[in-house]
Amino acid sequence: MPIQRLRIAGYRSVRQLSLELGPVNVIVGANGSGKTNLYRALYLLVAASEGRLARTLAEEGGTPSVLWAGPRGAKKPARLTVQVELGELSYELSCGIVPFDPTPPIRDPFHLDPEVKSEHLWAWSGGRKVVLMERKERTAFMRDADGKRVTFPTQLWNSESVLDQLGEPHRFPRLSEVQRTFAAWRFYHHFRTDPDAAMRHPRVGVRTPVLAHDGADLAAALLTILQIGDTRGLEQGIDDAFPGARLDVRASEGRFSLFLHMPGLSRPMAATELSDGTLRYLCLLAALLSPRPPPFLALNEPETSLHPDLLEPLGRLVLRAAKYSQVWVTTHAEPLARTVAEASRCAPVYLVKRDGATQVEGALDGESSDFTEEEEDRGG
Ligand SMILES: Nc1ncnc2c1ncn2[C@@H]1O[C@H](COP(=O)(O)OP(=O)(O)O)[C@@H](O)[C@H]1O
Ligand SMILES: [Mg+2]
Repeated sequence: MPIQRLRIAGYRSVRQLSLELGPVNVIVGANGSGKTNLYRALYLLVAASEGRLARTLAEEGGTPSVLWAGPRGAKKPARLTVQVELGELSYELSCGIVPFDPTPPIRDPFHLDPEVKSEHLWAWSGGRKVVLMERKERTAFMRDADGKRVTFPTQLWNSESVLDQLGEPHRFPRLSEVQRTFAAWRFYHHFRTDPDAAMRHPRVGVRTPVLAHDGADLAAALLTILQIGDTRGLEQGIDDAFPGARLDVRASEGRFSLFLHMPGLSRPMAATELSDGTLRYLCLLAALLSPRPPPFLALNEPETSLHPDLLEPLGRLVLRAAKYSQVWVTTHAEPLARTVAEASRCAPVYLVKRDGATQVEGALDGESSDFTEEEEDRGG
């Protein structure tokens, strides 16, 4: 189920935005234009599907801080809404803040939590939009496998999505399919490469088809690719970036260590000696050549601390990954955006800020207004 359209409203610098997605999506923009905010908005759906919505928003500073800080329409409540279209399905999550109780006038100690105000799953069928799940605050109804309308048996936990609270997934196959789809999306934002980072030191390893989000299991992930994955792609990716270099992963008593043989040096460089940029590039190799590709793979600003010479090789790696996954890359590196866009024929999306709000460059002001109208029609 590829993402066909993403709509975001009321989240950080995104007042309202609608974006059509293709197989390869390169999101470009100056610092502060809102690239990472878009990436984070998508990640919220993964968090929602795994019961980590409140925790994820708390790590971003809490719900009150992530709500759009600019003007809203008169009497419109502050809402953060993320909607995705996946084939004929459309899912939407809308959150606000915990209401302030004036009696007694004390702040809820959990005021950083989100409060899920509404949640929907629709399916397009024969030109009609059918509601498969509708949640209002703590109650929800959904259609079961036979199309029968069922009320959610218990009160919902108000700071988390219904996706994670589904007790009998087999009864609600479409909803559970959406939950599993979100949970399978993969996001890479920052690989830890400081001197104490796990990837720089020998580490107990298991066969690792999916690199950890911080790259901690890099050596095991690379060895897994060499054993059962795209060995040729990995060797080419290394040669493309570091001509003549060769990867060497050693295992001793179950602990894996990473070395790189470089032309001109009489001994291989250990992970402790490699530069941040080299290690990050190796992480990107492991992430993009995963033997278990995800349906959707997102990289946020992968150019961080990479030498400009590595941007085109990285672009080629992204294209290789796009054979198996829908890909999303936010970047401010022009050569990376160009390499990917030219070969994939998917034009980059340029973000700009207008009056503090992130917008797609060239989009007409009214272009994304259907989102609100839809919301208003539903009394949201
Ligand atoms: N709640 C908010 N309301 C409005 N703007 C916000 C909010 N939170 C963050 N921002 C803005 O978002 C911008 C950062 O967006 P970000 O996606 O990190 O940019 P980049 O394109 O550099 O990745 C900053 O300019 C910041 O002012
Ligand atoms: Mg950013």
